[in-house]
Amino acid sequence: MMASPNLYQRLTAEWALLRHNRRNKSGVVSADAQAFFVIENVFAEDELQHLQTHLLAEAKAVVRSKVEWRRGGATGGHELLHSQLWPSLKFLVGDDFQARVQRATGIRTLQLVPKKDTNRLSLLDYRCEADAAAGDGIDWHVDGSIYLGQRWAGILTLFEETAEDTAKLELKPHGKLATLAKAKVLNSLVLFRGDHVEHRVRPMLPGEHRIVLSLLFSDWPVMTFNPSLLRYQARINQIFYGNSDL
Ligand SMILES: [Fe+2]
Repeated sequence: MMASPNLYQRLTAEWALLRHNRRNKSGVVSADAQAFFVIENVFAEDELQHLQTHLLAEAKAVVRSKVEWRRGGATGGHELLHSQLWPSLKFLVGDDFQARVQRATGIRTLQLVPKKDTNRLSLLDYRCEADAAAGDGIDWHVDGSIYLGQRWAGILTLFEETAEDTAKLELKPHGKLATLAKAKVLNSLVLFRGDHVEHRVRPMLPGEHRIVLSLLFSDWPVMTFNPSLLRYQARINQIFYGNSDL
């Protein structure tokens, strides 16, 4: 698909995006956007262990933007760029990994959204203290979208210490529950059309802890000009990362 739209393409795509977001809110999603992909063994084993050690030792320093309704936290892309984790993470924004994602999905133009979007690559931490009530998940939903192209959400699990065998991330392609084995999602990138496939994170139970990277791809990552959609995304960013940058 084209990189920079002309006026006609822009207006057509903006109208389609507005309509799509309105239909999403009423639960209408496309049957042809329900496929999901799992890319396994993203990090080398020693690199994954290094990341886990660092994240668990430095959790308080790395995961900064606590929000009231969650016990865990989130670190946006802009902060990650300047964190000690970046040397281990930067290959995720490189050409080789992009080619791997394109091969896995068969979408030749799939790429991360622009660097200015803090959702391009972010870190999410879900936890529940041992003496607390279950919580810190995200109920079933589909995402909104601010890109003119397809929205592909990617969840890469770095650490999932739970009492369950199935991953906290659950998808409902075609409205049917698809549970994923916890062992399968560790160090794997689960890619799905976040604005079409219903998904949730089951509530964390006492003593459980989960850390994931969230990546956002599009086959045509041109951000909308629509101010209402941008305001919506800014609100989400404020809630998750403590800043409303776009
Ligand atoms: Fe979501």
